[in-house]
Amino acid sequence: MCGIVAAASQNNVINILADGLKHLEYRGYDSAGIAVIENKKIHSYKREGHVSELTNILDKKLTSNIGIAHTRWATHGKPSEINAHPHVSDNNIAIVHNGIIENYIEIRDKFFKETKLESDTDSEVLAHLINSYSKENDILDAVYLALKEVKGSYAIAVLDKNNADEIIVARHGSPLLIGVGENVNYIASDAHALIMHTNKFIYLEDGDTASISSKEIKIYDTNKKPVQREIKKSNLSLDSNTKNGYEHFMLKEIFEQPEAVKATIQDRIINNTVPKEILGPNVDKYLSNFNLVQIIACGTSYHAALLAKHWLEKLAGIPCQAEIASEFRYRKHAVQKGTLAVCISQSGETADTLSALRQIKQEDNYVGTVAICNVPESSIARECDSTLITHAGPEIGVASTKAFTTQLVALMLLIIVLGKRFDVTDELEKSLCEQLKTLPTKIKSTLDLDNEIAELSKIFSNKEHALFLGRGSHFPIAREGALKLKEISYIHAEAYAAGELKHGPLAIVDENMPVVAVAPNNVVLEKLKSNLEEVKARGGKLYIFADIKAGFKSDEISQVFEIDAPMNPVAPILFTIPLQLLAYHCAIIKGTNVDMPRNLAKSVTVE
Ligand code: G6P
Repeated sequence: MCGIVAAASQNNVINILADGLKHLEYRGYDSAGIAVIENKKIHSYKREGHVSELTNILDKKLTSNIGIAHTRWATHGKPSEINAHPHVSDNNIAIVHNGIIENYIEIRDKFFKETKLESDTDSEVLAHLINSYSKENDILDAVYLALKEVKGSYAIAVLDKNNADEIIVARHGSPLLIGVGENVNYIASDAHALIMHTNKFIYLEDGDTASISSKEIKIYDTNKKPVQREIKKSNLSLDSNTKNGYEHFMLKEIFEQPEAVKATIQDRIINNTVPKEILGPNVDKYLSNFNLVQIIACGTSYHAALLAKHWLEKLAGIPCQAEIASEFRYRKHAVQKGTLAVCISQSGETADTLSALRQIKQEDNYVGTVAICNVPESSIARECDSTLITHAGPEIGVASTKAFTTQLVALMLLIIVLGKRFDVTDELEKSLCEQLKTLPTKIKSTLDLDNEIAELSKIFSNKEHALFLGRGSHFPIAREGALKLKEISYIHAEAYAAGELKHGPLAIVDENMPVVAVAPNNVVLEKLKSNLEEVKARGGKLYIFADIKAGFKSDEISQVFEIDAPMNPVAPILFTIPLQLLAYHCAIIKGTNVDMPRNLAKSVTVE
């Protein structure tokens, strides 16, 4: 949710800021802006639209040794040039902000009743507040005093015209890191923006404030006491920022799944067993005393949670609840003693999931917290007792693909470890390990459906609505398929448990309503077949993704796509692949922005 990049250098920083913004664009892309200090003046440039709109207007001769930049995902105030960041106060102070100032109206009424504000944003008042405190305080104190007034979440970077060597930054609830260089230091919302310049990063903690110049980094805690934070080396590769010959990041990431899954199981399956050590040194805190699991997540990660619930209960006999984090955090819970919390998050920064985790940590009945996360340095990964990293590599496409399948793989590893005290026998463990090891090859074969699905998309993309059906552990996969289709092709799609069809959705089935079915060869196959007959009888057109042994044949009403997904617990992972491809190809035909769909962002660091 919004990307921040900033740099203080002995050389020109304009290209650093412009390139950084391009790499952060997946976090928000409705407007962008940059502010620099040149000849003792703040110069600010802003544009509505993608980062390229901004870089097109930047004067090629513009040079500066210090600057801040921002790419926005609108929360308060519509996407527009006026609402774009940086917000400049009195030509003195410029700020970029990620997060939400919840009490901005109170601040505005308390301090700026007489001031005519330019924008509709919550962030502009913070710029004015820092500016007014800077009249009688140095800039670091001014930032501290201003932030004392603020309720909400923020990562900010502040430029002060009268202090042209340093940038002040602060974080509370939104991610921010410092990139360490030689005669240059950087700030960014994440490491992607800076990996071409440095692989040394300091991850700021909540409550930290810092002053950054080209020569020096000074970090302070909430009480303004100087603190040291470790410099960590990132192993992000430059490659992960490129499309590697693919037309879109999403397609590249779909095709990376065999490798990503392989990397996620690597070194975690030893002689067909999964050692508890994969959960790190704190595993003994909860392994012998938990007796049920509560999973929390958002979006695609929530669909992984739903499948994990099936697996935990069916394979391990462990009671499990899965809940959307934004719902979980605002309701009262009857927590049973011995609950283990599992947070699933690709980014590890999703605001609702992070807040739910922090609430859980206050509650005695939870015996431990586990993160399934793709970003090792993220807040969720750092704040859980154990973290199982998905080795998907950076996921840039806003629609999650390889993060989802690797989350499922990591969850299966977790379930094996947790389940040994319950129903996971040595024999079951061995069988699940073998299934996981065959997955990369099976995903590769499933990807061969690409051309067939591209053909199907020519018909499918004309539709305005679609229904996705699945049963049991394949219902979460149908839900994920519907989500993928709507988020990138804007075709309205809903998923139903196939047995629910006759309780309402059948009323909307006719020849214009394509029905996509996920049809594994499992115990509910015959039930699913009956449900699909109900669709046929109403003239609905069926697109069935079926296991080769499920016995479906194409005819004038149904088109069957065969998948070699033997009847075993990991089969749902394979059925995910064709649904990702369907969404991708429909989006291509509809000409949408596949990697950056409208109104969305990759990392949702606001509520
Ligand atoms: C956003 C992304 C989704 C993602 C969700 C949860 O909505 O666009 O792809 O599933 O956030 O993100 P997380 O990083 O917590 O998995």
